[in-house]
Amino acid sequence: TMGKSTNILWHKSSVDKLDREQLLQQKGCVIWITGLSGSGKSTLACSLSRSLHSRGKLAYILDGDNCRHGLNRNLSFKAEDRAENIRRIGEVAKLFADAGVICIASLISPYRKDRDACRSLLPEGDFIEVFMDVPLEVCEARDPKGLYKLARAGKIKDFTGIDDPYEPPLNCEIVLRQKGMNCASPTPCDLAETVISYLDEKGYLQ
Ligand code: PPS
Repeated sequence: TMGKSTNILWHKSSVDKLDREQLLQQKGCVIWITGLSGSGKSTLACSLSRSLHSRGKLAYILDGDNCRHGLNRNLSFKAEDRAENIRRIGEVAKLFADAGVICIASLISPYRKDRDACRSLLPEGDFIEVFMDVPLEVCEARDPKGLYKLARAGKIKDFTGIDDPYEPPLNCEIVLRQKGMNCASPTPCDLAETVISYLDEKGYLQ
């Protein structure tokens, strides 16, 4: 077990968050994308970072799947390891936001209390939760990595939506749906635009 650090002081830097934000002409924040596997989190994250980049805004993606190759390589999909996965990404996202970057965290993050803990790390308003509200049937039909098929066959245990829970947000900033009644499905670009409009409206892009 890890010991707690003692006798440590906070070293205040001479350049602060505001200085960096002025340099970058944006406000650091965390866009937290939650949803089932195959709900389009990574696609939205990519599209969002592309559009922000082309507007001259600095964004950086922290993807759950990708971080599991490095930072979180020692973690499984058991509830307590998912909680630790989310906690670490939340802490790293907080550092990025403090650096003035628009940090896009994209991970299933199935438990409400884990997401709320990450929210509480940031100043009010700076944690923007985006829910990919895509029904399980749709995600399962897409099955881009063939994982739902394996989960149904019992070859993967604790798979979110199959034999592990997903708790949708109750009060998030943005809900993205695939389509409304009699409406065409929005493209990843349309979905990114919804998020960008929100950021613009709240003053994060200046
Ligand atoms: S979590 O719950 O936030 O810790 O998950 P995350 O770090 O986002 O990782 C999810 C990706 O891992 C793959 N995978 C699984 N997902 C859910 N449950 C189980 N048991 C599982 N095993 C592997 C899966 O490809 C997820 O990728 P996405 O991008 O979400 O489809």
